[in-house]
Amino acid sequence: MSSEINQVPTGIEELDRILNGGFPRGSITLIAGGPGTGKTLTALQFLYNGAVKFSERGVLIIFNENAQTLKQFTKTMGWDFDRLEEENMIKILDFIVVERSSLESMLDMIFERALAFSPQRLVIDSLTALTMSLERRDEIRVVLSIMHRLLRKLGCTSIVISETPWGVESLGSGVEEFVVDGIIKLELLPVKGELKRRLAVLKMRGVAHEMKFYQYSIVPKEGIVITPYPEVF
Ligand SMILES: Nc1ncnc2c1ncn2[C@@H]1O[C@H](COP(=O)(O)OP(=O)(O)OP(=O)(O)O)[C@@H](O)[C@H]1O
Ligand SMILES: [Mg+2]
Repeated sequence: MSSEINQVPTGIEELDRILNGGFPRGSITLIAGGPGTGKTLTALQFLYNGAVKFSERGVLIIFNENAQTLKQFTKTMGWDFDRLEEENMIKILDFIVVERSSLESMLDMIFERALAFSPQRLVIDSLTALTMSLERRDEIRVVLSIMHRLLRKLGCTSIVISETPWGVESLGSGVEEFVVDGIIKLELLPVKGELKRRLAVLKMRGVAHEMKFYQYSIVPKEGIVITPYPEVF
């Protein structure tokens, strides 16, 4: 049964089923997880599928990360981001995080550049890096509400990434979790001497999504592959 709202498929088959169709159009979803859980990969797959399967342009905003290394990673998944950039379907904007006094003007500049590309999909990797220079919750709240307003103005469907330290239960700073429309949590859990990957959709406003845990793998040439979470765990 599909929802009545307009939804944007991620193109990750099982995730779209879990989401009963995809992200609501124009929504902001937080992907939260520890190091190496596959946050960046999931977001890249959303952009790649958007461009290749649904002809939707995507912008990837990265901080303190090298675009070339990222593209190497996408190549191992069989996704040619160089070609998509040439075809004007994907735009990668990389920034160095600035101190907090210039954060607001940097956000304006980022969104002006994104707006010029008129994307349907957008990813910020990561919100944690963007708000790194902020210590107080009220400062984080101000920057997040600016970001939120700008994303709404752009009108695209967005993923923002939150990096959570290993072993910590939180999803973010305690602010963004409530600002975003959806949350997907990615985890690495020790199970019988092995690390297993586990995923759950914690919220998605307006969507009757599944509430189960799922196992997932990172598979070369495929990306994120989601399977049922074994009961024996
Ligand atoms: N070719 C590959 N085949 C299978 N798994 C891979 C491959 N390349 C990377 N991985 C897995 O993907 C992980 C990295 O995924 P990704 O960069 O999306 O994680 P992340 O959550 O964004 O990490 P970080 O918090 O460091 O940014 C690696 O730690 C590794 O476990
Ligand atoms: Mg990452």
